[in-house]
Amino acid sequence: MSMIASLSSQKRPIFIIGAGGIVNAAHLPAYRLAGFDIQGIVDIVYDSAKSTAERFNIPHVFGNVEEMIATAPANAVFDIAVPAPETIPLLEKLPEGSAVLLQKPMGVNYDQAKKILELARSKNMLAAINFQLRYAPYIIAVKKLISGNMLGQLNDIEINVDVYTPWHLWNFLSEAPRVEVLYHSIHYIDLVRNLMGNPRSVYAKTTKHPAMPQLASVRSNIIMDYGDMVAANILTNHCHIYGRPKQQSYIKIEGSKGAVKINFGALIDYPRGAADRFEYILLEEGKEPQWQEMNIEGSWFPHAFIGSMEQIMQAADGLIDKPDNSVEDCIHTMACVEAAYQSSEKGGVRPDFF
Ligand SMILES: NC(=O)c1ccc[n+]([C@@H]2O[C@H](COP(=O)([O-])OP(=O)(O)OC[C@H]3O[C@@H](n4cnc5c(N)ncnc54)[C@H](O)[C@@H]3O)[C@@H](O)[C@H]2O)c1
Repeated sequence: MSMIASLSSQKRPIFIIGAGGIVNAAHLPAYRLAGFDIQGIVDIVYDSAKSTAERFNIPHVFGNVEEMIATAPANAVFDIAVPAPETIPLLEKLPEGSAVLLQKPMGVNYDQAKKILELARSKNMLAAINFQLRYAPYIIAVKKLISGNMLGQLNDIEINVDVYTPWHLWNFLSEAPRVEVLYHSIHYIDLVRNLMGNPRSVYAKTTKHPAMPQLASVRSNIIMDYGDMVAANILTNHCHIYGRPKQQSYIKIEGSKGAVKINFGALIDYPRGAADRFEYILLEEGKEPQWQEMNIEGSWFPHAFIGSMEQIMQAADGLIDKPDNSVEDCIHTMACVEAAYQSSEKGGVRPDFF
């Protein structure tokens, strides 16, 4: 994936539904970097759409979704970024054959994900999900090392996040029956699937925190099972209230010939963030292993958001068969999320205490 979209893709007009935090902080800055053509925006709060349009020079602000649909040309790409429970009614309104990018998660549970898939199929839509961590510049760099067989056979992936996340910034989470896995670790589950394929099974324990008892679980341990020779572990704690010094967030990948460790800064000291650091090592016969640092241009926010939109544009233009992040693929990420919650509810194996 290039950081700058192909010229043919840049011509396809984008119509955005939802003018909230993520559209302003990531979608629009990314699309501006890519040179995408953003033609219209709508929000149930008109002033939100209007102020976003002013900030990003979007020519058309609509009073409602129906008005937007009536105006959008046949080659439009719709970009829906509203709270997950609002997604299905919007998808039902879109015309047959639409190209549409939906914000993650793909519905609030697996039943909704299946409904979204069914709608996309029955309306013959080109539909994809905005699981954009797959396209973060540091992940693109890892994929290059993997495709060049520089890391050898992968046998370990570990994602470790120990930060303080101010969940109260997202109003809709206060009532949500599921929080951490569905809204956050879902990115890591999707990334592991994107790199390693579907796991055989998922083990998990997701836990609440005494400092935020009103929220559903906010910490998770997730094991994605790839058999006896490959370890895939996700460990997240969003309740590290002890200041910046010991906060950490990394993705580590180990293979038979090399390894990568990405310290990603987006979540550190949120929302300030910290610099990313990409380190790698390539084993050489008879040489002392030496870690090296690679300079990576761009980060998860906002650059990765170019990739998820670029996929759908390229598929719409016939440059690729289907988006890598198609609903047909992403439904499997939702299946893993569902499995994680089920595993957590079911509990572990009880030791036979005497
Ligand atoms: N990394 C990521 O991919 C990422 C990060 C944050 C949020 N998100 C997802 O993006 C979505 C939006 O999150 P946010 O942080 O922008 O939330 P937000 O609350 O800041 O914004 C949501 C916006 O949608 C509008 N809206 C709600 N229902 C609507 C409808 N039916 N039609 C038109 N507009 C409607 C609201 O008025 C609001 O302006 C959520 O699904 C969230 O999970 C993804």
